[in-house]
Amino acid sequence: MRVVFVGPPGAGKGTQAKVICVRLGVPQISTGDMLRAAKSAGKLPADLVAKMAAGALVPDGLVIGLIDERVRATDCTPGFLLDGFPRTSPQAEALDQMLAKRGLKLDCVLALEVPKELLIERTVLRRTDKRTGQIYHLKYSPPPPGADLEHRADDREEVVRKRLDTYEGMTAELLPYYEGHGILRRIDGVGSVDEVTTRILSALGAK
Ligand code: AP5
Repeated sequence: MRVVFVGPPGAGKGTQAKVICVRLGVPQISTGDMLRAAKSAGKLPADLVAKMAAGALVPDGLVIGLIDERVRATDCTPGFLLDGFPRTSPQAEALDQMLAKRGLKLDCVLALEVPKELLIERTVLRRTDKRTGQIYHLKYSPPPPGADLEHRADDREEVVRKRLDTYEGMTAELLPYYEGHGILRRIDGVGSVDEVTTRILSALGAK
């Protein structure tokens, strides 16, 4: 199954992707995680590090190249779940083309919907375990004592607001694109993590 998660910062894409990928037996492919790993390895140019920290998108060509290479890996043969890609119309068109070349297409695009003030609370209080990548929330999903936590540079409130504007300006245009292809499913992202997981599995017909 080839699935895409679309949604604003803090909608729960990463949290849900980890659970849904185990259920579907497919890898999670997160362009945000790939870019942060490149940054940690000192392989992301300084101007792109600055763009990410400021809440702007990196160039389409870079992420399209990353995904084109990643989806060719053998672990993607049974399918994949894309989290954070595509984010613009050129990215969506490039994805369709790279799949079509191999006779493949997307099965489903899930749009996670959460009100803006809740998105800000979710992102500003998010913490990630540096070692395991596990996502926590200081209020809703507190980390265990002694966890080695990271607060993302782009999770400061003023940057989150900028990222939300970027989402509304660039990524939201994807929804009509996928609606037109008849594969968009809108998911209410408010509720417990388990409640949202149940909605997603139901939309995927995998309950
Ligand atoms: P990326 O890492 O993709 O960030 P994002 O899309 O802004 O999404 P987030 O990771 O902020 O949120 P999420 O929806 O995964 O929420 P999470 O599950 O963590 O991208 C970062 C940057 O990289 C971009 O700004 C851009 O610069 C660059 N980039 C990446 N992809 C790109 C692309 N394709 N093109 C160009 N540039 C790109 O949850 C958030 C918090 O809420 C957590 O604390 C979690 O514990 C909590 N939570 C989750 N669900 C619930 C729930 N149901 N109830 C209570 N709390 C919950």
